[in-house]
Amino acid sequence: MALILGIESSCDETAAALVTSDGRVLAHRLAGQEDAHRPFGGVVPEIAARAHVEMATPLVAAVLADAGVTLDKVDAIAATAGPGLIGGVMVGLITGKALAHAAGKPLIAVNHLEGHALSPRLVDRDLAFPYLLLLVSGGHCQLLLVKGVGDYRRLATTIDDAAGEAFDKTAKLLGLGFPGGPAVERTALEGDPRAVPLPRPLVGSGEPHFSFAGLKSAVLRARDAGLYRPEDIAASFQQAVVDCLIDRTARAITIVEGATALVVAGGVAANEAVRGGLAALAGRSGLRFSAPPLWLCTDNGAMIAWAGAERFALGLIDDMDVPARARWPLDPNAEKARGAGVKA
Ligand code: KG4
Ligand code: ZN
Repeated sequence: MALILGIESSCDETAAALVTSDGRVLAHRLAGQEDAHRPFGGVVPEIAARAHVEMATPLVAAVLADAGVTLDKVDAIAATAGPGLIGGVMVGLITGKALAHAAGKPLIAVNHLEGHALSPRLVDRDLAFPYLLLLVSGGHCQLLLVKGVGDYRRLATTIDDAAGEAFDKTAKLLGLGFPGGPAVERTALEGDPRAVPLPRPLVGSGEPHFSFAGLKSAVLRARDAGLYRPEDIAASFQQAVVDCLIDRTARAITIVEGATALVVAGGVAANEAVRGGLAALAGRSGLRFSAPPLWLCTDNGAMIAWAGAERFALGLIDDMDVPARARWPLDPNAEKARGAGVKA
């Protein structure tokens, strides 16, 4: 049994956790930065990086104290090495390197997306490779065949915005505050999902790619029309996103081979309408369904420690000169989606 320390700092959460290779979370802590970013309505990279500098070391000390262990009891140190806001990634990775160097422990450089991709296996111990993964976060919206640790085939991606980004922009347009996803979900509970006609971009198209920029523009037009309650716009927007995610995932199910489970991970997987829609799709498709608990969907240290544990078990450790990366695709061979980069 190995004990892994995980450090996460790729966006606006500083997080640390201690996880065992048999899937026990001994401690996990998170320091959000919402208050620092709220006045700007979004994450400011410079502010994020400074906050990570202040919080990374105290959080590591806190999880060690929570678990009642010292650093010499840890078998390896895993830190996010990208993709993400480069200043923050550098802070977390440097912290991991310094601790690994000082304690004489192996360093594991974790791809943040692999942290999300493997997170369901921390709690669902029967979830076996290969599985079809819908990875939906603030920065990414992808369908992947997860064949094994470090072995991914990307089936689809977004040609413009990520799903979480669409939630955040809609929240901003409706004045619901920051962070946007949970605010839209709360507001949508009071609204009618059929009240506002909104588009379902790319639904029905052959390749299972996503597009959300047009939906955001339609939300702006609906708001400016002055005909609809914000609750109804939020509910109709959320329904449109769910419909897109379900249609595109259903399309991927028809073309992917070998997957026995449908899995959702990433911040948007915390949304109950998204989880419910995908669970129903899995049921209709004869697939097992797996989604991490809500705290494990949004960024956290346990998923980085767990990805570290999975890599450590395979002997995948990194050199001290491993770089921090702003971009780091899980499938380096994936082709660019047609139309990618074109914002509606
Ligand atoms: O995985 P994550 O914490 O960070 C990234 O790696 O991007 O995902 C954050 C994204 C944000 O866009 C946030 O608005 C969205 O996940 N999100 C949600 C919910 N909770 C978080 N979107 C919809 N409904 C939610 N309940
Ligand atoms: Zn994330």
